Formats: sequence, structure tokens, C-alpha cells
Amino acid sequence: MATRETILITGATAGIGRYTALHLVRAGHHVLASGRSVDALSALRTEAAGIANGGKLDTLRLDVTSAASIAAAVTESDRLTAGRGIDVLVNNAGFGIAVPVAEISDADLRSQFDTNVFGLVAMVRAFVPQMRARGRGRIVNVSSIGGKIALPFFGGYNATKHAVEALSDAMRVELKPFGIQVAVVEPGAIRTNFATRTVDEAKSYRTSDSPYAAAHATYVKLAKRADDFAPGPKVIARAIEKAALSRRPRVRYVAPFFGGRVLLRLVQLLPARLIDFAFAQALGLTRKKLGASSLEVHAQKALAPAGSRS
Ligand SMILES: NC(=O)c1ccc[n+]([C@@H]2O[C@H](COP(=O)([O-])OP(=O)(O)OC[C@H]3O[C@@H](n4cnc5c(N)ncnc54)[C@H](OP(=O)(O)O)[C@@H]3O)[C@@H](O)[C@H]2O)c1
Repeated sequence: MATRETILITGATAGIGRYTALHLVRAGHHVLASGRSVDALSALRTEAAGIANGGKLDTLRLDVTSAASIAAAVTESDRLTAGRGIDVLVNNAGFGIAVPVAEISDADLRSQFDTNVFGLVAMVRAFVPQMRARGRGRIVNVSSIGGKIALPFFGGYNATKHAVEALSDAMRVELKPFGIQVAVVEPGAIRTNFATRTVDEAKSYRTSDSPYAAAHATYVKLAKRADDFAPGPKVIARAIEKAALSRRPRVRYVAPFFGGRVLLRLVQLLPARLIDFAFAQALGLTRKKLGASSLEVHAQKALAPAGSRS
């Protein structure tokens, strides 16, 4: 690929996307950083303007769940590249909600799929035609190690990332004849707004009468602690850079080393029941820790005739 690539990043207003945008500008590329918040995009432009000897950063307003917003982003990216189009699309926008599967509302499950899966596919549909016309292009999908394994409280989010993995595997073969390469980046825990958002979005589920009340409280503590220990987004920005710019990209990039590659390997190699046990202990998903009496109250409520439930 040419030295200076034009790279569009979704969800570049925070975390991994934002860090990657600045990292790629420092490396001399033309970055189209996109996101929903006008203020955050403006702050990003200001920061990028301070990078000496770097490439260029333009910003685009883009909500990946809006067809109109995606269509406008295609037009704007054409304008910003004088009709040439982008070289690389980095599908990074995404979020999760930490809720047990039996508790999550359709709306909250769907909203994660809308952004993480349908938004990603809509972006691919929108930008592939120009890549196909030029006979070259690259798509980098930011998945998660949760695209390969599933954690309690993350069933919905992990399902979206499993979908991203499957879609990427199919796309990789379907788009190759047109000169378009597809790579996946699978982050482990990274210190961004992600963990806080998984907690904030689950606020309405943290009621005292939830059968998972104790585990919700444990998760809130764990999420904070994970953020204290997790590395920052630099390691993922580097993985995205390799996925976006290596001449022959790997199919998957897992990072960081311990919280990503080693953890994923361990979970895949050890017996499932042992992993279940470890996760249950960590989150307090045991009869004892959830509170046996609370489980009985909920069992009685569930079995009581509808009219008699309080
Ligand atoms: N951090 C981790 O531990 C971790 C681990 C594995 C995978 N990941 C994945 O890494 C990616 C980036 O996450 P992050 O850690 O950087 O989290 P983050 O700090 O919360 O950033 C997420 C970004 O996605 C954007 N976004 C969300 N919904 C959007 C939409 N509908 N349209 C456009 N942008 C949208 C957010 O913008 P708003 O501020 O407007 O919402 C924000 O810019 C996600 O796909 C996430 O699933 C993260």
C-alpha cells in the first residue's frame, strides 16, 4: 500500500478510536475521524492540529446506526478525498451493556446489535463499492476477545462480537477477489470509557429486588478494578495500524499480550466447567453469594399465580 493512506475510523470521539486516529496522523496518514459528538470531534481536530510533521485529520459526523448519517459520510469522505475515496475503513464504534441474558430487554439487546453488528455491516455496504471500483481497499473490524469466548453478564455484547467474527470471516473471502482485504482486531480489557459505559447502561437493572443484585454490585466493583489494571488504548492502536497497513495483514490481531492473547488461549484450552467455575466465583454467581433466601423469594414469586404477585 502507498505510504500515505486515507483511513476512516468510526467511533473516533473516545477511547481506542480516538487514540488510533491520533496515532495514525502521527504516522503521516490522512485520517477521517468520525463520531457522533460535535464537541468531541472539535477537540480531536484541535489536538491533531498540534502534531508536528504528521499527516492530516478531518472529522465527519457519523452515527453508524443511521442510514442517512452513513450516506452523508460517504458524500463527505468523497469530497475530502477529491472523489478518490478511502483506502481503509476501521469499524471501531461499539459498546456493551453488562446484564444477565435472562434479564436484558429486547431494546437493550437490539441497541448493541444495531451499533456493533448492523452499523458495521451498513458501513461495509456503503464503502465497499468505491473500494471495488478501485480494485483495492482494506476493512478492519474491531471485535473483542469476547468474539471468541463469552463471559457472564456479557452474553448480549459477546453475541454481537461473535457475529462480527463470523461476518468478518465470510467477508474476507467474498471481498478478496476485488482486492479488498479484511482483518479483525480482538482487544482484551483496555482502559477507555467502555467499562464505565457497561455499568452506566445497566443502571436500570441494578434494583434491590433483582435476583442478580449481589452479582451486579460485584460487577460494578470488578469493572472499576479492571480499569485500574488494564492498559491504555496504545496497544490496540498499534494492532489496528498493523491490520490496516501491513502488506499482508493477519486474519486476527489479539492484544494485549497477557490480558488478550494469554487469557484467550487459557479460556480456550481449559475445560469449560473450570472456566465456568472461575467466572462464577469472580462475579459471585453462586447460590451462596447471591443469597439463598433471595433466590427462594424469586423462585416463589415466579411460581405464584400472576394475579397474586406483588
Ligand atoms: N475497552 C475495552 O476493554 C474493549 C475490549 C474489547 C473490545 N472493545 C471494542 O473496542 C471498540 C472501541 O471501544 P472503546 O474501548 O474505545 O470504548 P469507548 O471509549 O466507549 O469508545 C466507543 C466509541 O464508539 C462510539 N460509538 C458508540 N455508538 C456509536 C454509534 N452509534 N455511532 C458512532 N459511534 C458510536 C462512541 O461514541 P459516543 O461517545 O458518541 O457514544 C465512542 O467514540 C468497541 O467496538 C468495543 O466493543 C473494547
